[in-house]
Amino acid sequence: MLNEHDLTWYKDAVFYELYVRAFKDGNADGHGDLPGLLSQLDYLQELGVDCIWLLPICPSPLVDDGYDVSDYRGVHEDYGTLDDFKALVEGIHARGMRVIIDIVVNHTSDQHPWFLQARASKDSPLHDWYVWSDTPEKYREARIIFKDTESSNWAFDTLTGQYYWHRFYSQQPDLNYDNPAVQQEMLDILDFWLALGVDGFRVDAVPYLFEREGSNCENLPETHQYVKRMRAHMDANWPGRIMLAEANQWPEDVREYFGDGDEFHMAFHFPIMPRLYMALKQGTRRSIVEILQRTPGIPPLAQWCIFLRNHDELTLEMVTEEERQFMWEQYAPVPRMRLNLGIRRRLAPLLDDDPRRIRLLNALLFTLPGSPVLYYGDEIGMGDDIWLHDRNGVRTPMQWDASPNAGFSPADRLYEPVIADDVYGYQVRNVAQQRADPASLWHSTRHMLAVRKQHRAFGRGTFELALPENEAVLGFWRALEPEPGAAEDGERFLILVNLTDAPQRAALDLADWAGAQPLDVLNGESWPAVGGSAYKVELAPYAHHWLKF
Ligand code: GLC
Repeated sequence: MLNEHDLTWYKDAVFYELYVRAFKDGNADGHGDLPGLLSQLDYLQELGVDCIWLLPICPSPLVDDGYDVSDYRGVHEDYGTLDDFKALVEGIHARGMRVIIDIVVNHTSDQHPWFLQARASKDSPLHDWYVWSDTPEKYREARIIFKDTESSNWAFDTLTGQYYWHRFYSQQPDLNYDNPAVQQEMLDILDFWLALGVDGFRVDAVPYLFEREGSNCENLPETHQYVKRMRAHMDANWPGRIMLAEANQWPEDVREYFGDGDEFHMAFHFPIMPRLYMALKQGTRRSIVEILQRTPGIPPLAQWCIFLRNHDELTLEMVTEEERQFMWEQYAPVPRMRLNLGIRRRLAPLLDDDPRRIRLLNALLFTLPGSPVLYYGDEIGMGDDIWLHDRNGVRTPMQWDASPNAGFSPADRLYEPVIADDVYGYQVRNVAQQRADPASLWHSTRHMLAVRKQHRAFGRGTFELALPENEAVLGFWRALEPEPGAAEDGERFLILVNLTDAPQRAALDLADWAGAQPLDVLNGESWPAVGGSAYKVELAPYAHHWLKF
């Protein structure tokens, strides 16, 4: 059962990001749905998931796969009903897990009744719920995010003869947060879902809520003011429920979204992600170290979310131009693999399906400071289909077994085809097969999660780099001091990884630990005791070790 007294559960939680349409079809119509997901909860529990994050589930014309909401108080008909949702939340909580949902605060669908009324006439009472202008000249400093599709952040509306503002697709008009009614309505929508039992929200596209001339219209003080209002509202009415920020920004800018502990509970660490991949190709830890050193401290109850992949392209917004070119050359040699400022591929294909590199990145995902977020299917190394529209190639049906349609659905036609190639196809790569094979990626992922959960230092501990001279080796400490008077001892881990394909030697200064006998908690092996001089280690290609001191 759910421990409702644990108000800081998100610090220890393992998150699993899941696309309902892709997970399991419960009514044989070719689309995954809430009852289907309900039927697979035991699987997620067995894997070690603590909190499920659902991509948008509200009614939507699906121009942006649900990130274009047309009704904030319902469930998309492909997914089921609000009653199905209640049953799902109950099922999740009954297993001691939690659920957060995506909430799209910045914009709606152009089919939302609000927008239909807003554009009906300039005098409509809802006109001012969106951002209008007579010319497309305002806010010129704001960048275009979907740059492969959109040429402007303004779209002309024939009914009003005005332009409306949109940071994403033109079918996603931005709400006007300068309007108090909009601010209030969004709080009411949060209440609606919180009353249904959700444990929080992944808040979509946070930096763009307000627009101001002369700025790039991101991270404005007004946006922070509103976030503080959301948080105060949550704290006053819904203790223990969380807000997670999607703010694809540099560390110092994301840091602001934690406020003084009065804004978001959590925020994704976007910049570290591409650097994990970069380090593998460069064979040095430099870029990882650089970004970690550039990451400011955060308030005590705040928490980072670390991820390797998600439902979008692997974003290269938070790298330099030179690094972006490098990443594209290395990881997206085929032009079709590129999308906007990123790469539309999944974890396993990005890493050439090399189990050593996949496990290495997982080992970092589970030990770097923050809570890890797994993307559905990556636990079995699912493949992608770059030829599908937009980002759909990383949103294909979950591969449960080798039966037709990967055990995802009995329907004749699916929302998108299952992956069926020789390497990643469902015939050879699926949950059933990997569960039966103790050496599979699924088992290693599950094992790492289980070990992580035995040690609170990974979710709550301090972080300190431990850098030997050899730059091919990344080392860092995670430590939790014993709480005064607590029964639990403190604990301290040294994480060591070899970022290269060759064996590496390194010498660490462990003088403070003379006499200690490190234990690798992943495989139970004891390491030589620490002596008086430098501690010499030899790491196998792509090795990763979690050493308990
Ligand atoms: C976020 C989502 C992305 C969506 C966009 C617009 O970046 O992750 O999928 O397209 O917001 O809502």
